Order: sequence, then C-alpha cells, then structure tokens
Amino acid sequence: MNTLYTNISQLATPRPGPQRGAAMRELTVLEDAALLVGGGLIEWVGPAAEAPAAPETVDLGGRAVVPGLIDPHTHAVWAGDRLADWEAKLGGATYEEILARGGGIRSTMRATAAAGVPELVRLARPRLQALRDSGATTVEVKSGYGLDFDAELRMLQAVRELQGEFELIPTLLIHVPPEQGRAKYVRGVCEELIPRVAREKLAAAVDVFTEKEAFDVDETRAIFEAARANGLKIKLHADQFHAIGGTELACEMGALSVDHLEASGPAQMAALAASDTVATVLPGVTLHLGLPAAPARALVDAGAIVAVGTDLNPGSSPVFSTQLALALAVRLNKLTPAEALTACTVNAAHALGLSDRGSLSVGQRADFAVLHGADWREVAYTLGASPVADIFLTGAKP
Ligand code: NIG
Ligand code: FE
Repeated sequence: MNTLYTNISQLATPRPGPQRGAAMRELTVLEDAALLVGGGLIEWVGPAAEAPAAPETVDLGGRAVVPGLIDPHTHAVWAGDRLADWEAKLGGATYEEILARGGGIRSTMRATAAAGVPELVRLARPRLQALRDSGATTVEVKSGYGLDFDAELRMLQAVRELQGEFELIPTLLIHVPPEQGRAKYVRGVCEELIPRVAREKLAAAVDVFTEKEAFDVDETRAIFEAARANGLKIKLHADQFHAIGGTELACEMGALSVDHLEASGPAQMAALAASDTVATVLPGVTLHLGLPAAPARALVDAGAIVAVGTDLNPGSSPVFSTQLALALAVRLNKLTPAEALTACTVNAAHALGLSDRGSLSVGQRADFAVLHGADWREVAYTLGASPVADIFLTGAKP
C-alpha cells in the first residue's frame, strides 16, 4: 500500500549516487514537500500542492526531512573498556605508545576474545540503538578485536544476529598483527579466514589497518588480493598517524574507501581525488585523541568523494551519534552543512558499495529522518542533543 508523507516544511537531499567536489554542496531543498512511499521505496517526491492521491496519508507536523544517515565506519562490537588507557592518555601517553606496550586495541582484543556471541550482542545493541536514535538508518560494523580467528568469527556472528534488528553492513577488519608470527598470521588470514568469511557470507568487505604499529603495505596487498579472489570488496584504515603508502595502494586496487587520513599529504589527496575510492574522515578521532583533523576541506576542493563516519570504538572515538559526527565534520574538518549531509548519506553509501540509498529520490529506499525543527540545517548545527525526532526505514518506523 502507498503512503503519502505530507506537511514536510523542508525536504533536503543530495542527488543519488556518489558526489565529488563542488557537487557535494548541490542539495535539492524543497519547501512544503511531500513524499510518496510504496513497497519500501520512494515513488514520488515534490511540492505538496502537486502530490498524487494515496490511500494513506501521514502528517509529519511541519518538520524537516533528510535522508537517513549512513554511518560507514564503526567498531560497535567490543567487550571491556578503555577507561584506564584514556586516563593514561590524559597523563601524556600517546595512543601509539599505549598500543605498543600491549594496551589499547590489544586490551580490547583480550576482553572481546573472552566474550561469547550472546554477550557481544547484548553489549552492541544499545550502541546501535544510540546511532539509530541519532538518525542512522544504515550502519557498517567491523570485526577486528578477535585475538584469533574464532574470536573474529564470533564478532561477525554477533553482527549477523543484530542484523535482525538493525540495517547493518558487516566488514572483516584485519586490525593488528600478533606479537609473534605475523607472516604466518597473514597467510592464515588469506588462506583460511577470508575464504571462510566469504563462504559463510559473514562480511561484505575486508578492511586492514595499515600503519607503523599494524600492517605494512606488502601485507595489506596480500590481504586485499585474497579478499578480491574470494569476491569481497576492500577498504582501508590509512594515514591515521603516518602516511606509509596505504592510501596509494587502496586507490590503485579500487578500494571502496580509505578511512582516517589525518596524516595525508598532497600525494595521498591527489590519489584520492583521481579515484572513485571514497575519502572517509572521522572527526570523533580528532576530538578524542587530539589528532590533527583530516583534510576534508582540501579533499572536497580537490574533487574527491568525501564521506564522514563516527568510527565508534572504545579507544579512539567514543562517539555514539552519527549526527554528531556530521556536525563535528563542519566544525573540525571545515565542510559546509550541505557537504556534510552529502558525506553522511550518498557518499557514505558509496563507501559501502551501496547505490540504493542515501538520496530522497524516486527508486531509492525510503529511509529518512524527520527532524524536530523545520529547517534541515539543524542536522548539522545541533551539538549534544539529537535533532532527530523519528526515523523511517523502508517507509516504516523500526
Ligand atoms: O579506527 N586505528 C585503528 N583502529 C580504530 C581504533 C580501534 C581502537 O582504538 O580500539 C580506529 O581508530
Ligand atoms: Fe576505525
């Protein structure tokens, strides 16, 4: 049955598909709009005065509507906490020092490896609910805290269970190497873990943390080749602390996205701007770790496809709101509000290999957020409270 949503003060949306450079600012903003939904998809959108008749009408109360936000980068499944690390960091230790002495990501790995699937599901559920309450209708979730392959698979099984409640896109993250036997580990990832994850359809893509304290470019290339050979897409954590060549490799191999980019320089930005690989920036990390902000302004100006994510995780970004990440990208990464909305919708969809969502236009999924206010810019303006009143997933309240 078709439903007509009316009394929309403003409907703001990017065009469908990835937007690069100046096109990221070109939103359509309709005043006094209506939206027709049928079979979970958008059938018509336009001025209320021209709306077609429908068997059911829902009055949205004179509020603004934007596409449901898409969070393209989270580590929402973990056990334990990083509160002691945080205090050590406040006392002067760096994120990399904490990791090098066996804390940081490695401490979350120990806690996560000790948890069973039901416990991981129980811990992740309220985090995903918080992202949803902030306007996120699709959320990527990575593994990466498994000490061994079984623990890694348990994380992905937890995501699979939560897919019954949330629209989640799972990613296998090869995060940090074991302290001994890294060559054997990488071989196992390529020959056992990736084929098994692909066979069991536990992830859509493989991500690697390419960094001095994690994997080097040759190891990353081997993992990417195994991912592709098994039909999985590739994406990357790169240039968080040092630009060691991960971004260039990812662009050359056609990765969906390269994420972080705080330490990217002109060569990395040029590679991203010349590619279809999305440059995903994570302003929560800038805020929490006090790192330089990723050069999103320069990336947009160079013509790159830029997305924004929370990077929700216990160590570098305890940000439980996709809308806050959008709002921080305006303050910290110097995106305009329109660019930030595009970054958190169609461009974030492209970073996940999805083309069916992110824009309120005919044929797209009817995933949308209704704001409390009448002006769409509140989604970029508001800090510390959610400007989102309601979300609709394929045309229905979840
Ligand atoms: O995206 N940089 C590496 N990985 C994560 C952090 C994970 C953690 O600190 O637990 C990130 O920032
Ligand atoms: Fe991350």
